[in-house]
Amino acid sequence: MASPTLISDTEPWKDLKCHVDDINKTHLRDLMKDTERCKSMMVEFDGLLLDYSRQRIRQDTIEKLFKLAEAAHLKQKINSMYTGEYINITENRSVLHVALRASKDAVIYSDGKNVVSDVWKVLDKISEFTERVRSGSWVGATGKALKDVVAVGIGGSFLGPLFVHAALQTDPEAAESAKGRQLRFLANVDPIDVARSITGLNPETTLVVVVSKTFTTAETMLNARTLREWIAASLGPQAVAKHMVAVSTNLTLVEKFGIDPKNSFAFWDWVGGRYSVCSAVGVLPLSLQYGFSVVQKFLEGASSIDQHFYSAPFENNIPVLLGLLSVWNVSFLGYPARAILPYSQALEKFAPHIQQVSMESNGKGVSIDGVKLPYECGEIDFGEPGTNGQHSFYQLIHQGRVIPCDFIGVVKSQQPVYLKGEMVSNHDELMSNFFAQPDALAYGKTPEELLSEKVPNHLITHKTFSGNRPSLSLLLPSLSAYNIGQLLAIYEHRIAVEGFIWGINSFDQWGVELGKSLASQVRKQLNLSRTKGEPVEGFNFSTTTMLTKYLEATSHISSDPATRLPKI
Ligand code: F6P
Repeated sequence: MASPTLISDTEPWKDLKCHVDDINKTHLRDLMKDTERCKSMMVEFDGLLLDYSRQRIRQDTIEKLFKLAEAAHLKQKINSMYTGEYINITENRSVLHVALRASKDAVIYSDGKNVVSDVWKVLDKISEFTERVRSGSWVGATGKALKDVVAVGIGGSFLGPLFVHAALQTDPEAAESAKGRQLRFLANVDPIDVARSITGLNPETTLVVVVSKTFTTAETMLNARTLREWIAASLGPQAVAKHMVAVSTNLTLVEKFGIDPKNSFAFWDWVGGRYSVCSAVGVLPLSLQYGFSVVQKFLEGASSIDQHFYSAPFENNIPVLLGLLSVWNVSFLGYPARAILPYSQALEKFAPHIQQVSMESNGKGVSIDGVKLPYECGEIDFGEPGTNGQHSFYQLIHQGRVIPCDFIGVVKSQQPVYLKGEMVSNHDELMSNFFAQPDALAYGKTPEELLSEKVPNHLITHKTFSGNRPSLSLLLPSLSAYNIGQLLAIYEHRIAVEGFIWGINSFDQWGVELGKSLASQVRKQLNLSRTKGEPVEGFNFSTTTMLTKYLEATSHISSDPATRLPKI
């Protein structure tokens, strides 16, 4: 059998490798003078504006990247995703998160079955259930309405919903529908997170939503048992039926846990955990907080980008362009990281969500056919909202390492503030920074400019900015539920494009398994040592020493302690 071709063996890849020498002779200061070039690097779609003129590229770079896309069969791979082919070959599944936000009349097949009707059955069930809870017709065990929700889940069953919740919290329409209600999350298995998530809540008025695709994740299951105990200890075990519901693909385990399948909300194997925010994973808790109609707008925004990604020519296709530029930065210019810099506090949880979507998807070392890659793929994603990040790590991105930056700005603030007598509105002040930073990175400041400003000689090198640091800017018209959906889908698809080009499987995550199985060995040891006094065995010297010290220092813990819940 012929060995599979790696993208690095193709002519377009080799051509781009050579092209780096040309680009290294350019500086963004000069590239930005070419208005035609800049004009060709702006794309508008559905109210969004992408400007990628501050990437270290010429127009011919983009042509070369399109050739790379062709060599990687990008269009065919996108089509295979949308038509439900089993592109996640190591888990033998299709990848159909686009079906989660498709309109009711859309038809998307997986295994010869239109999955959109299944999706809408669950969405209708969520709409009906959340209306009952929000209107007070579904009440808790003592007859009180449930106004607070704790969503228990981790990773993809947490980060996406948290990002959307944080983004909606200050949107006027969403905030109005959330009045008097609270949505909290419990993710970490750390008991401190349990304490934080329930502090100030009354079990009588709280609904716990257990969110787990597999319903086996150790952290989530222990946290779910802990909150079940919290409810039962206060209201009796029969109260669990009224105070706990679940979201999972594994309804058998949900029932075993003690949650009535009638009160559980399904999703499917073809939804990857980190791509699940548009399934019941996100839609249920967010609808409980904001009402289904707000969440529906979020789904519509994501769907608009899904259609654009599927049908727009590559020259105007925002996720495709972003994905190709990321590959250019990582694989050709050799920049391993990417900073996500939203100039909106409402997007404070966007970077943590994208960290998982990107790094769990593309942090791979072998091709989809299992061949060890001769090139690095994946990116190190991090970020903070501007302007906070400016006072934290921007020193490094201006004068230290080169980190391609995504600047995300919003035209209309969710919460405008104007002060009489101030030069600009508070949002204009924020946006002044959004517009200034990309130019500071691109142009820098030369020693000549500093000399003309009479900067003392001994400070010239310290105050010089090399410039030529790439960034791109994405301007959203506002931060409504719809725009939040658009933003999510742009990044999801961009990450898929990168994986399609690198020739990897962006939809599995075997790299998280080893640590889980080692933790289970340690868990067994801790139990044996605490209950039977058995010595630590089977670990290396380092772990044995640490474990023994930990056990000795906590030897006062009884081998069969009484249940204890957080006390704050
Ligand atoms: O961290 C690994 C992982 O499997 C993620 O992919 C997933 O999002 C998370 O754990 C939670 O999994 P589950 O939803 O099955 O509890």
